[in-house]
Amino acid sequence: MNAPKLRFAPTPLLFPGISSDAAAPAAQPAKPRSFREDLLIGLSGTPKSIPCKYLYDRRGSELFDEICELPEYYPTRTELALTRDRAGCIAQAIGPNATLIEPGAGSTTKIRLLLEALEDPLAYLPVDISGAHLRDAVEDLSARFTSTWVHAVEADFTRPFELRAPLSEAGARVIYFPGSTIGNFEPAQAQRLLASFAAPLRPQDFVLLGWDRIKSPDVLVPAYADARGVTEAFIRNLLVRVRDELGANVDPEAFALDTRWQPEHERIRISLRPREAQTIQIGDRRFDFEAGEELFVEHSHKYSDARMRGIAEAAGLRELRTWHDPRGWFALSLLGPMG
Ligand code: TRP
Repeated sequence: MNAPKLRFAPTPLLFPGISSDAAAPAAQPAKPRSFREDLLIGLSGTPKSIPCKYLYDRRGSELFDEICELPEYYPTRTELALTRDRAGCIAQAIGPNATLIEPGAGSTTKIRLLLEALEDPLAYLPVDISGAHLRDAVEDLSARFTSTWVHAVEADFTRPFELRAPLSEAGARVIYFPGSTIGNFEPAQAQRLLASFAAPLRPQDFVLLGWDRIKSPDVLVPAYADARGVTEAFIRNLLVRVRDELGANVDPEAFALDTRWQPEHERIRISLRPREAQTIQIGDRRFDFEAGEELFVEHSHKYSDARMRGIAEAAGLRELRTWHDPRGWFALSLLGPMG
């Protein structure tokens, strides 16, 4: 690294995060809730639900890596090819000495393509709640990109956080948010999340967003309900965690995956439903399910170009470029702060 060229930002980057309670000031974070507290709240709701952020423990992350290899799960493969095809254009738009910040960093395959294409990238800062995954990523990448400073930041990017890494004033800062993770937020929350990403950016900085486009349910539904049952195992792993980590009385195998395309909301809805009446017992709390009753887990929203552009604009981000793969299934958008 060309050290004399570097001038470090004296102040950390402040991400306000999203607050599920729109009335609560974002600067005043509520105390994080435990898995048990979150679960009791979810199971007390109508419909009953489990927060999807608990999908990614070690086993969950392994199962998700397996999902990414499935013939039915097109998003990972499509986004990778699109990134590979457009890496040159993207790198040119971003310019030299960039700092890449990746909220919710998972696998390192996509960031490698970008780091290879960029001219002298200064730093890569993956941000994630779970330290284990992050540290693997850092080791991998530091060995391969010796002149890029790779530094893991442990934080929940949906909550207010300060990125305290020494950032260079040179080059653009890029918030990289691939994998259609934006689709797992409700549209209003997706907008607030993008606004949180935009908040600390300077005019010359970017958000690079990977998102999934609306397409035939014949393609969409199997992607979230594969023939081998890997997705079912991935979603059921939530109940395995409830059983093993909270000592709950629950039979994960009694719950089957239910995947639906909801055209009126342009989203995939992923739930578990027990084949017969079931009870989940956690300590002295009992939650009874009728046969077929929904245990809601997650949405995966799909977007049109116009709707995604609208959400970005409402978040204070202007669309600079959007690239599609040849089938038009997936999109990468380069966004910049509105002046
Ligand atoms: N964000 C990705 C998507 O919506 C990955 C994902 C999240 C996922 N939850 C999932 C994939 C559940 C399969 C099943 O596609």
